[in-house]
Amino acid sequence: GKKFVAMAGRFHYNGGYTSEQTTFPIRVLKFLGIDTLLVSNAAGGVNPSFKVGELMIITDHISQLAPNPLIGKNYKELGPRFPDMSEPYKKYLIKKMKTIAAEKNINVREGVYVAVTGPTFETRAEYKMILTLGGDAVGMSTVQEVITAVHMWLPVLAISVITDVGIREDENVITHEEVLQAAKEAEPNFKALICELIAQL
Ligand code: HPA
Repeated sequence: GKKFVAMAGRFHYNGGYTSEQTTFPIRVLKFLGIDTLLVSNAAGGVNPSFKVGELMIITDHISQLAPNPLIGKNYKELGPRFPDMSEPYKKYLIKKMKTIAAEKNINVREGVYVAVTGPTFETRAEYKMILTLGGDAVGMSTVQEVITAVHMWLPVLAISVITDVGIREDENVITHEEVLQAAKEAEPNFKALICELIAQL
């Protein structure tokens, strides 16, 4: 009974797209009339207690993914020059999602997402740096889109699928195949959470 629009994938900055290009779809979605943006991504676990296949509700982010998509001319009709970023991931959406997860007995984590450009996965030293910075997970997307949404006062909820654990001491090789496989295995839980959230919005 709900209307939604879904993107089939996204543009990554590391694919050679500019920040305007990676974030343009968010502006299009806003003008199509959406009132909530749900974002998902695959991310590397940095918090040592995280396990592959777990879902993490993003509570905040640190951007190491330059440049900020709002650099350049500000379109006042979209939002302010200096947007507040004190609550990029809406607390009421996080609360709702946690309640849904508890009701469905689905294990969810919460944490800080650190965005990097990629396309290289992190070195051991970089995973350690990200942990030291306060990150729980690391990925190559999301933050530019979220900034663009917050600029337009669009409420956001974002979830990471932990597809690999970057902080392990040995056997630290991470492959794209491993990431895709873990994302696939997390799909049923992820789908159940998102469908119920949409139903409740
Ligand atoms: N690092 C960065 N991006 C990622 C990772 C990672 O370990 N896993 C999935 N996307």
